[in-house]
Amino acid sequence: MTDDYDAQKDGFESYNVWIAANRARLLRERCAAARRVEVIGQCELYLGDCMEIMPHLGKVDAVVTDPPYGIRRDQGMGDGGHCGKTGKKRKASRYTGSWDREKPAGEVFDAIVDCGKHIIVWGGQFFTDRLPPSGKWLWWDKQQTMPSYGDGELAWTNLPGEACRKFTYSLNGMIARSETGLHPTQKPVPLMMWCLSFLHHNSSVLDPFMGSGTTGVACAKTGRPFVGIEIDETYFDIACRRIEDAYRQGDMFVSAPKCAEQETEQFGLNLGEVAP
Ligand SMILES: C[S@@+](CC[C@H](N)C(=O)[O-])C[C@H]1O[C@@H](n2cnc3c(N)ncnc32)[C@H](O)[C@@H]1O
Repeated sequence: MTDDYDAQKDGFESYNVWIAANRARLLRERCAAARRVEVIGQCELYLGDCMEIMPHLGKVDAVVTDPPYGIRRDQGMGDGGHCGKTGKKRKASRYTGSWDREKPAGEVFDAIVDCGKHIIVWGGQFFTDRLPPSGKWLWWDKQQTMPSYGDGELAWTNLPGEACRKFTYSLNGMIARSETGLHPTQKPVPLMMWCLSFLHHNSSVLDPFMGSGTTGVACAKTGRPFVGIEIDETYFDIACRRIEDAYRQGDMFVSAPKCAEQETEQFGLNLGEVAP
């Protein structure tokens, strides 16, 4: 036994682990479609197909998600290029899966819209044939310096109001770069925390296309209950580890942007917004 052993703390942690394991077992019994269920803090994470799992879940306050766009981003950007010396083709990517061959069917978006009151869908421009018209779009300005890449990304929302909102966050800095690379379409945590700032502070959030768990990390950091679903076990494991780390860092409630409406730039008409 070491000097800094704290029996009370150890007992409390063991109790929490026991509660989480029991809760995961009960959720797994309720949802046979899940290949695994993990409970980490206020997050419930399901391994499996969201279309099979969503019908077993209760309603949430909000869905914040980033579905496959159907544009073959599953292996990352670019094709790897060629080796300068040998001229041989380089391996295209270190990523797994082929999840971005097709975008989800219309029924998936119907199920998503049914699940929660407020919905934010990244890659919204790819799904305009599957989602109703909306005036309230979110725009991530990546401050892109590579001319061949896009300037940013768009999210469709059903949030109240008509004003589009912009969040500027470059992936070129060292810190930002170290935050990505686990998933070919990994979103930055500050971007997802900005999305959450449009919702009530205690809203429960579902991400049915969780990937490496960025939405879950943002929820863990801001003390929101989260439900995540991911079909690929490699990314599911990464999500579990990142969410555990987010809780361990213990900076809950500290780094969330205060109010998205104040910190962002408006480039649409604001026709009398109502608080969500
Ligand atoms: C665009 S990525 C999400 C990336 C995420 N925003 C992040 O920051 O890591 C979409 C994810 O949805 C997963 N996926 C695809 N079809 C699915 C399905 N039917 N059910 C659950 N997950 C699915 C893919 O494996 C992929 O990891």
